[in-house]
Amino acid sequence: MSWPFPGIVAHRGGGTLAPENTLGAIRLGATMGFKGVEFDVMLAGDGTPVLIHDQTLKRTTRTRGDVARATYAELARLDAGAWHGTRWRGERIPRFEDAVRLCRELGLWANVEIKPAQGHERRTGEAVAQMADKLWRSAPLPPVLSSFSPVALAAARHAAPQLPRGLLVGRIPPHWREMLQDLECVALHANYRALNARVVAEAQRAGAAVLAWTVNDRRAARKLLSWGVDCLVTDRLDRIAPEFA
Ligand code: G3P
Ligand code: MG
Repeated sequence: MSWPFPGIVAHRGGGTLAPENTLGAIRLGATMGFKGVEFDVMLAGDGTPVLIHDQTLKRTTRTRGDVARATYAELARLDAGAWHGTRWRGERIPRFEDAVRLCRELGLWANVEIKPAQGHERRTGEAVAQMADKLWRSAPLPPVLSSFSPVALAAARHAAPQLPRGLLVGRIPPHWREMLQDLECVALHANYRALNARVVAEAQRAGAAVLAWTVNDRRAARKLLSWGVDCLVTDRLDRIAPEFA
């Protein structure tokens, strides 16, 4: 496919300039001129989809416990900003629906990474896709749902077949072409270090776009763009600005 979505996307909302996966981070991305953001979505213990990367609460909230064992009400009390710096104190773990509303308000496109806690792949794929379908209805651009989990992607396809999907990979797996085809993905979302000109060309010949994460170095970014990579996801909003592409 051609890539109708933004070509430079802010990782986890505001990259490393804000506490990841918070509404404050998404606002910062928009303020810095980004047209698209990536964020991670996991299910809380009561089934509420929330923005968080890790399965445990330790790193970003300095609290003991697992996301999948806490209710949203419990998560909502935690501070998800202070770890990043005092000016971010009071940022919360947002619900997915709050993040979508904010993106729509700000006119931001989103790459929603379905990030299931272990053992919750199918349920997470299904819940995120259903909610995404409902909340982005009649939006100018649909979100792209991506995941490292083929089970989550298959569940997302079943729940909302019309929403575009991206296959996330850290390394290029031997059967990546078949995986893209089987899961009907529009894009390969690869660790930029795993990419080369041949893989990019092959993916695009097969009709898939290529997104590279997480590119923080301008030289690497230039090289990827010279290979024809469609989208760069960056943590360094200050180095790889939207006009870089
Ligand atoms: O979606 C790209 C990137 O976010 C995947 O890795 O671990 O940062 O979620 P991670
Ligand atoms: Mg992610």
